Amino acid sequence: MTDEKKVMLTLPEGKTVELPLRKGTEGPQAIDITSLYQQTGMFTFDPGFVSTASCDSGITYIDGQEGILRYRGYPIEELAGNASYLEVVHLLLYGELPSVEELQSFRGHITHHTMINEALRRFFEGFHYDAHPMAMMVGVTGSLAAFYHDSLDIKDARHRDISAHRMIAKMPTIAAACYKHNMGEPVMYPRNDLSYTGNFLYMMFATPCEEYEPNPIAEKALDLLFVLHADHEQNASTSTVRLASSSGANPFACVAAGIASLWGPAHGGANEAVLDMLEEIGSVDNIEKYIAKAKDKDDPFRLMGFGHRVYKNYDPRAKIIREVCHQVLEELADTNNPLFELAMRLEEIALQDEYFAERKLYPNVDFYSGIIYQALGIPRTMFTVMFAIARTAGWVAHWTEMISDPQLRIGRPRQIYTGPTKRAFVPIEQR
Ligand code: CMC
Repeated sequence: MTDEKKVMLTLPEGKTVELPLRKGTEGPQAIDITSLYQQTGMFTFDPGFVSTASCDSGITYIDGQEGILRYRGYPIEELAGNASYLEVVHLLLYGELPSVEELQSFRGHITHHTMINEALRRFFEGFHYDAHPMAMMVGVTGSLAAFYHDSLDIKDARHRDISAHRMIAKMPTIAAACYKHNMGEPVMYPRNDLSYTGNFLYMMFATPCEEYEPNPIAEKALDLLFVLHADHEQNASTSTVRLASSSGANPFACVAAGIASLWGPAHGGANEAVLDMLEEIGSVDNIEKYIAKAKDKDDPFRLMGFGHRVYKNYDPRAKIIREVCHQVLEELADTNNPLFELAMRLEEIALQDEYFAERKLYPNVDFYSGIIYQALGIPRTMFTVMFAIARTAGWVAHWTEMISDPQLRIGRPRQIYTGPTKRAFVPIEQR
């Protein structure tokens, strides 16, 4: 939406240019600078996109100062524990929570696509036995495009829908196959009579030798974690998916790019790094030492699971996860979990410290999630994979929103060139 109000920008030589203001339904206004270069011959400079909105989007709203997160208008606190992950996926993709019939039909579409092609399954044989699951995830997800040519016309809404369903359905199957490869166990085929997370737990932990039924506590906890991780507007991986797909690339390749971006420790890789950090700290007695390291500008150590580009308040997801952590550990009779005790004490000490208070650094979504995953028996190298399964909903919803937008243009940032100015070529014998 364009506001009637305008912003006047005065250039060094005194010329004034008028720039329109844009506003959404909520959140700060934005200065529309699309005509700036044309009017002034100048770019804006904003590395890390700290002050730049890259698109209009009607999917997720965050108010970082207040610690608010809403999917399609619904507060995360109301969705968590009340709506299943598949209901939330429907909400993100289609804008509305499904009715009972709509959910049944949506579940049918998803379960119809849970298997992966046998040739794709054999890809895993080519990976080293100890390959990181995220490495396999990037490769295998990107390869989906080689198998599903029948849904690759991105201009066709039906094709887009089928691709979206395929990715949401196959991600747990691929993820569990990564784990089985690491374990040297046979891949378990999906069981479509189970829930989305129940089936995932089955594919992870069942073997052909024994009966296996997923633990309902684990199933419920995982479903809730998936809801909390489902979308987070224009984060690094979602922006990666958007930028990759702005060229018209196929959605499987674009989601593979998103998985690659998520892997980094500043993003989804933080959940794995948090447990490494807690183990390194080892005991409550060492917390002060590590807090001092995190504050020391000459030490690269950071408190993993702390801080956020947008939240300058407690991350609402971390608040819910901390609560769930208590419940899950209690239900699984793991009440004296030393890492949880350590994490809570670390949080308490950090929040009282001036350094963290001044910079508004609070626990983020990754701080407590790994403790739950660990209690569910999920190994550390799979933590970021869990994030990837859940975030596929967001990636696919943003991809669909963007590709359906008639104003879509290729994403192409500009730069400030700082290399050498023009110089004459010197033949090799004279260098
Ligand atoms: N420990 C110690 N200091 C920190 C931390 C931290 N975790 N996070 C930020 N700071 C300091 C930083 O050194 C800087 O200080 P100064 O102003 O004195 O230079 C200030 O706080 C601002 O930090 P920044 O790096 O400019 O902030 P950013 O918005 O560019 O980075 C972040 C955000 C999440 C990458 C960063 O806070 C971080 O590295 N956190 C640890 C990794 C982590 O938990 N990542 C998960 C993010 S949430 C889930 C997700 O996206 O997947």
